[in-house]
Amino acid sequence: MCGIVGYVGPKSTVDVLLGGLKRLEYRGYDSAGVSVINQQGDLETRKRAGKLAILVDDITKTPLGEAHIGIGHTRWATHGAPTDGNAHPHLGGTTQKLSLIHNGIIENFAELKSELLEAGAVFASETDTEVAAHLVAAEYDKSGNLIESFRTVVRRLHGAFTILVMHEDEPGVVLAARRNAPLVIGLGDGENFLGSDVAAFVEHTKRAIAVGQDEIVILRKDSVEIENFAGDKVTREEFVIDWDASAASKGGWSSFMAKEIADQPQAVGDTLMARLGSDGNVHLEELASLTSLIPNIDRIILVACGTAAYAAEVGKYAIESWARIPVSVELSHEFRYRNPILTKNTLVVAVSQSGETMDTLMATRFAKEAGANVLSICNTQGATLAREADAVLYTHAGPEVAVASTKAFTAQITSMYLLALHLATARGTHSLNELQEIGRELLKLPAQIAEVLASSDAIRTLGKNFKDAKTVLFLGRNVGFPIALEGALKLKELAYIHSEGFAAGELKHGPIALIEQGQPVIVIVPSPADPDSLHAKVVSNIQEVRARGAQVIAIAEQGDTEVAKYAVEVIYVPKVHQMLAPILTVVPLQIFAMELSAAKGLDVDQPRNLAKSVTVE
Ligand code: G6P
Repeated sequence: MCGIVGYVGPKSTVDVLLGGLKRLEYRGYDSAGVSVINQQGDLETRKRAGKLAILVDDITKTPLGEAHIGIGHTRWATHGAPTDGNAHPHLGGTTQKLSLIHNGIIENFAELKSELLEAGAVFASETDTEVAAHLVAAEYDKSGNLIESFRTVVRRLHGAFTILVMHEDEPGVVLAARRNAPLVIGLGDGENFLGSDVAAFVEHTKRAIAVGQDEIVILRKDSVEIENFAGDKVTREEFVIDWDASAASKGGWSSFMAKEIADQPQAVGDTLMARLGSDGNVHLEELASLTSLIPNIDRIILVACGTAAYAAEVGKYAIESWARIPVSVELSHEFRYRNPILTKNTLVVAVSQSGETMDTLMATRFAKEAGANVLSICNTQGATLAREADAVLYTHAGPEVAVASTKAFTAQITSMYLLALHLATARGTHSLNELQEIGRELLKLPAQIAEVLASSDAIRTLGKNFKDAKTVLFLGRNVGFPIALEGALKLKELAYIHSEGFAAGELKHGPIALIEQGQPVIVIVPSPADPDSLHAKVVSNIQEVRARGAQVIAIAEQGDTEVAKYAVEVIYVPKVHQMLAPILTVVPLQIFAMELSAAKGLDVDQPRNLAKSVTVE
């Protein structure tokens, strides 16, 4: 994982690097470091274990020199514990004039390390990365040509890497290479940037280029060149970043998560915008390349990990119900390694906020090789997944910084509703009137989420009151089931509490044995207007757990007085089309987990052991 940033230009480089790292810290936060070449031409490096704030403090107390070129890194440890020594940048060669940062894993590092040790190299860390630093330094000592040395070395590396390198003797250039890890260029006026994603530099420029697989970037203040690993020039189109820079800052909120939960009306509204007319008609121009496939799709497989996989579960209900196409949801890492059956009529939909989750990328590549068509639902412009898929449907949630996903989740579900309606319209599975009616219901969602947010005091108090709970169970049925799973995941991620989500109907088949006196159980209750009378069934499930001592908190539709008889607390959400309810019912669960975590004194935005974008398999 890890976040990387590079800069060449007139601004104060340390500020640009630390600002970029702040916005990339979600990618890893166990150590951080920067290298710059100062005005005197000397390479200066500072790196510290712990969160970025520790490095920032250190640099504030003992500033680095004024510089106009530099690289920075925020780490999620793979090889070597999170210590000062293992933090990046790593220096190469005996003169230590070369500085290098890396995101990914160099799989053949052991073999390369033996070769270097035999040649007398001295290692200062336990990382795989340091191997690359010594190799480039050694090549440069031989050839005196930094670009050629870098090219020679990256061709020898196996695995996944984005590498940035800088050398004291070449003070105007940062070199970068990427294979199976993200890298984006930011184009400025008399300055240029590199980042793991556009968040690294969006406050400085909106012009960007996504670097392709096995490509090298030669970045100077007034030029950017791209070439492949063979040294041939490559041309890549630039794109305009549509994120607002201020969206990537906390803007007065207590945490990014608090802000991102509150951003959800806008995230859902922006995802619908220009795709759903006021008449309820859906237009997805992005799917034009799939037009001839749509009538022939015989199966849809949604691949995703974590929260995105629960969004996909909701998508499954909508697509099957509206478009009448068989859908399965697969965890990307399981799908890839179990020899699934794929044909040219299979549509694989890869759902990912970052578009860089390695498991999902590998699943996508596998699906394409097997002849399937791939659509990605992705939140990050220029992300690898978006570029590798046959078509991309962007969620417009804006930058999501908190590690636990919230607004990306509701935007992903929104995109899948749009996809389901688009497929249903194209295949004529329902009358246009029925589909338009659902479309018009979708348009109400942003205001309805705002309503849930405005009446969130009770759930906030509950979160605080349950701070000493040892375990919390979540029950849901139909589209409420994935929301129960997501509610439980949020609590695990944020509050380190054991929590489980169950299909309410499954309760009697085992999980009910867990219920004892006082056990908190949060139940997502379907609408009483539900035509399949799931409401009555869930109310029965509530009675079953209550009879065994559970404290039930119900998330129910406004006006559902029946459920109030059996719950210690009912959190009401507006009445909505049954399929769309997850967008509303998940919001109190996000708030519950956030408040509980904060009440325990934990870091809501950066929970332990996690990273937002998992770019290793
Ligand atoms: C990590 C994060 C989760 C996220 C998952 C998928 O595990 O901690 O919050 O849901 O990756 O991320 P993606 O970027 O593919 O949606």
